[in-house]
Amino acid sequence: MVKKRAEIAHQKNEHLDLCSTDSVAFRQRTTLLEDVQLLHQSLPELSLDEIDLSVELLGKRLKAPLVIAAMTGGTRKALEINTELAALAESNGYGFGLGSQRAMLDSPKMAYTFRVRQRAPNVLLLGNIGVVQARDCATPVLEKLVHEVEADALCVHMNPAMEVIQRQGDRNFTRCIETFARLVRELSIPVVAKETGAGVSTEVARRLSEIGVTTIDVSGAGGTSWVGVEALRAQGEERELGELLWDWGIPTAASIVYASRCSMNVIATGGIHNGLDVARSIALGATAAGIARPILQAFQKGGRTYAEDFLRRIKRELAVVMLLCGVRTIAELKRVPKVILGELRHWLNV
Ligand SMILES: Cc1cc2nc3c(=O)[nH]c(=O)nc-3n(C[C@H](O)[C@H](O)[C@H](O)COP(=O)(O)O)c2cc1C
Repeated sequence: MVKKRAEIAHQKNEHLDLCSTDSVAFRQRTTLLEDVQLLHQSLPELSLDEIDLSVELLGKRLKAPLVIAAMTGGTRKALEINTELAALAESNGYGFGLGSQRAMLDSPKMAYTFRVRQRAPNVLLLGNIGVVQARDCATPVLEKLVHEVEADALCVHMNPAMEVIQRQGDRNFTRCIETFARLVRELSIPVVAKETGAGVSTEVARRLSEIGVTTIDVSGAGGTSWVGVEALRAQGEERELGELLWDWGIPTAASIVYASRCSMNVIATGGIHNGLDVARSIALGATAAGIARPILQAFQKGGRTYAEDFLRRIKRELAVVMLLCGVRTIAELKRVPKVILGELRHWLNV
């Protein structure tokens, strides 16, 4: 379905407005990270300043295992958010994800709203496009898209749950796996398969792994409900459908384990709010954690300073949790002993 440029810009602005509140959070479903209990170490034999949070992701070294997840682009407001958050990521050594570059496909002159390289010359920069849009584009067109923003990797997002609620959203999700295969073969930079808040199953992770995708952003359930976002924009039958499926999705904790079972490099996004969530995600197998709406909210409240403080707090919490687990590096945290409780145990039997 062809969407006009003005329509996409309007939609992007509505997404930003709705995500400034907590009305779009999952209602009952949680990430289930609370079911992961890390073992306390009374004798850590470490000092806090020895803790090393650095990690390698997609060929670049991050100073902490944190990624500002894909959010926006294509409007003036988006330009401000992208440049400020990318600069923040650059100075702190986090990764940074651009929002969907679909706006650039429809109107190449919107490219300036995605160009953050000047402000963030060394950052791990992730481009972004929907798999349905990618399916309908020749590879050279996508190559140009990533080249123009100088991205290090392209996140190709999967979002059927939100699209089916959106009145003019996509309805045809065929040939997506072959699109991933083509992009892995033909694109000059790595492809990251990314969900948008509904998580991934073992089967999806396995199929992606079989065709050569090595990194997955699981974006699981428990944080922002994109079905919820679209429900609040919809009316009539779509609104009812959105209410029914508001909590649809695989919790982030289960998705991390499913993707790790397929030996994927995992970015754990979806409902990450603090350093304990990050530590638990890594203990389940993730390499880094991604955060979207909480960063947007901090930014909307107090600009770059608030967003920076929010992430600094997460980093400090993570370091303290690592100390209390008696581990010095992220690689050690991945292997830390843990107890899996409650509902998560059921999900892990699937
Ligand atoms: C305002 C906003 C816009 C988003 N736009 C995109 C997008 O363009 N592409 C994408 O892959 N994900 C997009 N997402 C999804 C996030 O990257 C993330 O997967 C999801 O919101 C779950 O993370 P959270 O619980 O930390 O918000 C967006 C999220 C927010 C809050």
